[in-house]
Amino acid sequence: MARWFLAVASSSMFAQSDFQGSTHLLSMEDDVINYSKAADTGPIPRLQKRIDFGDVRLTFDQKFGYLPSMLRHLNVSPAGQMLVFSKTSFQRERIAPNTPRALYVGDDIYIGFVQGSKLLEISSVDPVLGSVFYTLEQKPMERPKFIRTDNCTECHASAKSMGVPGHLVRSFKCDESGIVDLLSGADYVNHRTPLSDRWGGWYVTGTHGSQVHRGNLMGEAAFARQEREPNWRGNVQDLKPFFDTSQYLEPGSDIVALMVMEHQAHMHNYLTRLQYEARQKIAAYGHVDYLKNQAEGFVRYLLFAEEVPLTAPIRGNLEYARWLESQGPHDSKGRSLRQLDFQTRMFKYPCSYLIYSEAFDALPEALKARIYKRLWEVLSGNDTTGHFETLSATNRRAIIEILWETKKGLPSFWRI
Ligand code: HEC
Repeated sequence: MARWFLAVASSSMFAQSDFQGSTHLLSMEDDVINYSKAADTGPIPRLQKRIDFGDVRLTFDQKFGYLPSMLRHLNVSPAGQMLVFSKTSFQRERIAPNTPRALYVGDDIYIGFVQGSKLLEISSVDPVLGSVFYTLEQKPMERPKFIRTDNCTECHASAKSMGVPGHLVRSFKCDESGIVDLLSGADYVNHRTPLSDRWGGWYVTGTHGSQVHRGNLMGEAAFARQEREPNWRGNVQDLKPFFDTSQYLEPGSDIVALMVMEHQAHMHNYLTRLQYEARQKIAAYGHVDYLKNQAEGFVRYLLFAEEVPLTAPIRGNLEYARWLESQGPHDSKGRSLRQLDFQTRMFKYPCSYLIYSEAFDALPEALKARIYKRLWEVLSGNDTTGHFETLSATNRRAIIEILWETKKGLPSFWRI
């Protein structure tokens, strides 16, 4: 028991410094943000327009409803399927170890599928508002209609999502039916969370050598055995012994997809936090000088400065890995920020591909200028201090070159 507590205490302390202490709920309904009144943009409103104009027809599948067709139109790979069995979301009564909830994630979209449910759950990234939530009714319709559902923010805008509308990724011990023990885990998982604290309540497929995690475990006895026999439910390749995998698009819950999603979800929350804070500070004071620490923390996260090092190679679904890498963009030498390493860290060139996202580009100029300045200082080698020492000179150079060729809107001092 003591060991669990230590792990929890240390991981949440880590999380605190990650946010520079700023997890309090920010005002969403002031004149500056106006979350519920502002028109939403992003992948779902765009898809809805195409459906309404008749450019896209979502097809309805007998077993999975609109899910497969939606994934195709939103450029989401089903191979990156992830499965969560803890009873934690708003359809909790339908979720259990033998009927896990499936999650599919693209660059700016998160889609939840629950077996037998009348609804798909969707979180779509609006570059300014952050996560905007929708449901889609699972019944054949001439023109399927996504319904914006702001009351999802009851859970999805809290200290667990950096105080803004965003994503939740957690890891708790569960009993045999999927009920979570909220004192037993991490309520904020990202690329800084040790693997040993991750994936309580999740299925995990793929190999990870001797690294331990909490995936595939339900019930006290299973956790106790994990203490005695580390990894007895690790390196799992097949989930058939746990439930009927034919009820899902894919048989697995991919370890690589999970790690990428965990990196990305925090990145999205961070971008939204910065967007809200910057706009509110500009409205109040006319500048963003008070956000120095937030910007600094963001640059560290963007460059994976405190990513937990891998102590053994990780291998997941190859189809997903290939799909991810193919998304680019690539430079003239074929390099891309999405190239995977998964030997000692996640990405070969550790700078988040979300630097290409609309949400990054939409940051207020004054704040973006500050971020670019720090990014340049670190990458050009003028700052080799503390947090960035794991970033090798070769990788710094490579990231500068890749961005030079692939990123629009770099400031004029960016040179190669
Ligand atoms: C009772 C709290 C709660 C409510 C209400 C809720 N969610 Fe969630 N949601 C969660 C939790 C917790 C997770 C994290 C994954 C897990 O443990 O199941 C999550 C994860 C998700 C995810 C995947 C990851 C992410 O955070 O983007 C999507 C998509 C999602 N929810 C959509 C919705 C939508 C749409 C609604 C409203 C219709 C909604 N949720 C309402 C608790 C909630």
